[in-house]
Amino acid sequence: MNFRACFLLISMLAGAARSAAPPIEAKAQRFFPRADLMQVGVYYYPEQWPREQWARDLQNIGRLGFQFTHYAEFAWTYLEPEDGRFDFAWLDEAISLAHASGLKVILCTPSAAPPAWMTEKEPDILLTGPDGRRREHGTRANGSVSNAKFQAYVDRIVTELAKRYGKDPRVWGWQIDNEPESAPDFSPSARAAFQSWLRDRYGSIGRLNESWGGSFWSLRFDRFEQINLPNPDMTGEDKLSPHWLLDFQRFTADAQAAFLDRQAKILRRHVRPEQWLTTNYTNATRATDPRRARKLDFASFTMYPVAGANLLGGPTFRYGNPYRLTEAVDYFRSIAGVTGVMELQPGQVNWAATNPKPEPGAIRMWMWHAFGAGCSFVCTYRYRQPRFGSEMYHEGIVGLDGLGLSQGGKEFTQSIAEIQALKASADLDARLPAALAARRTAILWSHDVMWDLDLQKQGESWSTWHHRNVYAAAVKSTGAPMAFISEADDFGAYPFLVVPAYQMASAGLIEKWTRYVVGGGHLILTCRTAQKDADGHFPEAPLGARLEPLTGARLEGIDTLPGTAEATVRMGQNRFAWRSWADVLRPGPEATVLATYADQFYAGAAAAVTRRLGKGTVTYIGVETMDGVLERDLVRQVYERARVDIEDLPAGVYVEWRDGFFVGVNYSASPVTLPIGKDSQMLVGTNPLKPAQALVWKMIPATGKP
Ligand code: GAL
Repeated sequence: MNFRACFLLISMLAGAARSAAPPIEAKAQRFFPRADLMQVGVYYYPEQWPREQWARDLQNIGRLGFQFTHYAEFAWTYLEPEDGRFDFAWLDEAISLAHASGLKVILCTPSAAPPAWMTEKEPDILLTGPDGRRREHGTRANGSVSNAKFQAYVDRIVTELAKRYGKDPRVWGWQIDNEPESAPDFSPSARAAFQSWLRDRYGSIGRLNESWGGSFWSLRFDRFEQINLPNPDMTGEDKLSPHWLLDFQRFTADAQAAFLDRQAKILRRHVRPEQWLTTNYTNATRATDPRRARKLDFASFTMYPVAGANLLGGPTFRYGNPYRLTEAVDYFRSIAGVTGVMELQPGQVNWAATNPKPEPGAIRMWMWHAFGAGCSFVCTYRYRQPRFGSEMYHEGIVGLDGLGLSQGGKEFTQSIAEIQALKASADLDARLPAALAARRTAILWSHDVMWDLDLQKQGESWSTWHHRNVYAAAVKSTGAPMAFISEADDFGAYPFLVVPAYQMASAGLIEKWTRYVVGGGHLILTCRTAQKDADGHFPEAPLGARLEPLTGARLEGIDTLPGTAEATVRMGQNRFAWRSWADVLRPGPEATVLATYADQFYAGAAAAVTRRLGKGTVTYIGVETMDGVLERDLVRQVYERARVDIEDLPAGVYVEWRDGFFVGVNYSASPVTLPIGKDSQMLVGTNPLKPAQALVWKMIPATGKP
């Protein structure tokens, strides 16, 4: 589009008003009365402990203050000890004991761990790895979700469980499967399912060949039945078609989502409306796309903040990865308006490359963080440290003797009691304070776009997930309430919208961004945005040309640096090192340059630009720096130019708001003084806030200021 066409489009859109609708309608809130604030529970595996200890353990769980427990996730071999013979007596007893101890029960469908009799009888139900070998019995998540026989076995056990417990008021809700991971499956069942998925998607083989670029290297297929699975181990590593790989990734995620949905459908037929359905996604879920399952009430996630990473340096590896919990809550809450942590680390784990002890205080800080960020529940994994099996080194709430509280056990019980005590001061009708509403920010996120970028990184140091972390951290430094939205959502509900590396974009999406800005929104686009169309192809135009009318700047080229090479970008007096990505920009007359490349043959070219358009602004940040500091500064400037008040929270420090409470947490190595008004009421903790600690205070109702 040229500048004149752009002007016409802008005049056409100028009347569009920003909607005042609340960002997400949370139907699932009905399962979690606000007055309960955040309920806390713990996993218990009756099948792993002597029956005579169950009553004691469950009574102790109740006495510690937990409100629910979680059963049966890997217990298929006990629920159906032989093909078609079910045994629920043990689970009946475990549920009764939980109830007697005042605990609600989350039940889990056991599809992640098929029994030995099944895999012996029907080995085809197993998933096949890229090496062409079946994943034999002995671990978990090894069933092929595309296999009809496996689906039938799953349907049957889920039906039996649903019939038996669906009307049981002691059962609070259901977790389907465990950490559904969308592992690529190279079995014959998956191949047939992929072919029929493609038939549905493309309708004709001609259309598929067009979309996959079949004219390139003789990829072209004659019939859907010919299409094999894009397996680099079998076809050779040499650059498989990115369109074929992307569709296989989409298919795999769709197959996983369909597997969850088919279980949800069965459960829904039998369960009372008060019982909810969810699954426990891994928090940084890459292969599985939580927005693809349609039949769950909401999405929950698992969370292990201390697992060896040391992102903020010094002792902070014991406080937890500073990006995990904050991004996960904002992401998963955005799907259906409510969320909870289905597994929260209780202490040392066993599965990371190194497994340090969390700092005393850190586990309590995560509880407060989950609370502040709005979780409806937290369940910790697990009550007892196992004495056998592959997770023997995994701590629990109690130690190996089944009685003594671990450090995590002490922190869980302390925070449960503190949250209970807070109920008296909750303001359940409180509205988001105006200062926070003014900086509400959405991040536009799509798994398809991430997959496409990661399939064609074009530079070894590029990571789409890292890029998202950088921008989420920049937004959180302002103290803004953050949501992750999809293309279908109403952008107008957010005064600020960040679109990080949104490589595949339709013309309609570019128009929607334009309409958002013209109507008064502040849009931040980052490098690698809209360079491909919705098919993942480059348009027949100079790279980046489709965005030019919106950003007011021309993309002159893209650059990445090898190995340990670094280059420099300059903003004012400051210089920032970059390596992984540079969009080299030439500003048009409306654009103001914010940062420039300081070296390389294109020294002086723009790295970031901004402009006003209609009632709003567009900022394009074309470079990804080594430490994200430039991006943080540029994002913050967007709020400042819009004259919206923001906080200045250091990396790893977060302030959240819920039900009238402000909650601050500190994952950084230094104490930090939080911006708290003098007459605020301090409820928990002290300011300055020490590392690995939490602070809770209440706003002054009259002013709405913290
Ligand atoms: C989770 C998994 C649990 C358990 C836990 C141990 O990822 O969902 O079943 O294995 O890790 O930390």
